[in-house]
Amino acid sequence: MSELKNIALQILNNGKGILAADESTGTMTKRLEGVNVPSNSENRLLFRETLFSSSSMSDCIGGVILYDETIKQVSSKKITIPDLISKSGAHPGIKVDTGAKILAGSPNEKITEGLDGLRERLKEYYKLGAKFTKWRGVYNISKDYPSKLSVQSNAHALARYSALVQENNMVPIVEPEVLMDGDHSAKDCYQKTSEVIKRCFDELILHKVDLKGIILKPNMILAGNKSNEKISNEEVAKLTLECLKNSVPTEVPGIAFLSGGQSEIEATENLNLINKNNNTNFIMSYSYGRALQQSALKFWSKNIRDLEGTQKIFNHRAKMNTLAAQGKWSKEIEN
Ligand code: 13P
Repeated sequence: MSELKNIALQILNNGKGILAADESTGTMTKRLEGVNVPSNSENRLLFRETLFSSSSMSDCIGGVILYDETIKQVSSKKITIPDLISKSGAHPGIKVDTGAKILAGSPNEKITEGLDGLRERLKEYYKLGAKFTKWRGVYNISKDYPSKLSVQSNAHALARYSALVQENNMVPIVEPEVLMDGDHSAKDCYQKTSEVIKRCFDELILHKVDLKGIILKPNMILAGNKSNEKISNEEVAKLTLECLKNSVPTEVPGIAFLSGGQSEIEATENLNLINKNNNTNFIMSYSYGRALQQSALKFWSKNIRDLEGTQKIFNHRAKMNTLAAQGKWSKEIEN
C-alpha cells in the first residue's frame, strides 16, 4: 500500500475522525470574542492545547488540522504542538490555503488563494511534522451560482494544491464546501454539490494526483438554512450517500465530512445515519470544527481554569462522533 494511503487510513480507520482546529486568527478571534474571552496567542494556545491533551485524542481522533500559528507553538509541557499530537497517536495536519477572496469576473463568489510559494511552505510544514494538509474551496448556491467560473477555478486550485502536497509526501484533504446559507432546496444542494465534486475530480486526474492518497472533505446534502423545506435526517443521509456514490471515484480511501453550521447533535446524528446506510466502499467519518468544539469552548469560556471539565465535554463529543462514524451512535448513548 502506498505511504499516503496508509496515512489516510490511519487518520480515518476504526471510527477515528479529524479535529479541525485550523481556524485562522481572524475566525478564532470571532469565536473567542463570541464567548467573551480575549483573543491573544496565549488563550488560543491554552484552549487548543487543552483539547489536544484530552484522552479522546488516542481513541477517537486520527488527525488534527492546525493553523500556521499553532503548528509553530510550544505546549506547556515544553514539547511542540505537532509532537504533542503525535504522542497521542494522531497525525498533525496543516491548513495551507490563505483564504477565500473575491473572484475577479464574478464578484459575488470566492476563489481560494495560496498557491504562490506553496511548494516552499509545504517543505517547511513537513519539517515541522505535518503529515497531511487542508485547502478549502467555497461555493454559494442561488439561481445563478455557483457559476461555471467558480466551479472551474476552484477545482483547478484544489488540484494544483493537491499535486504539490503529494509531491511533498503529505496527504491532501480536498475540501469543496457548498455552503448551507440560502433558501435553496436539498435537491439544489444535491445537484450543485455533484457538479462541484465531479469537476474537482476531473482536475485532480488531469493534474495526476494519486486518488488513493487523498481525503475528500465534502458537505452533507442539506436544504438551505433559510429554506422552508424540512428534510429528515434519514433523507439527508440517503441524498448524501447517493451524491457521493455517483461523483467520487472508488479509489478514494476516505471521506470526512465538515459540519458546516449544523448543530453538534445534528452533525452526529446525520453521520450516524450515513454510516448505518453506507452502501459504498468509502470510509465515512468526520472532520468537524464547530461540531466538535462548540460546547467545550462555551464551558471553557466560563471556567477558564477548569481544563479537565473542558476535556470531559470534548471527550464526549469526540466519542459520540466516533460511534457515529461506525453507525453505533444512539440518542440513549448521547444522553
Ligand atoms: P466546520 O466543521 O465548523 O464546518 O469546520 C470544518 C472546516 O474545517 C471548515 O473548513
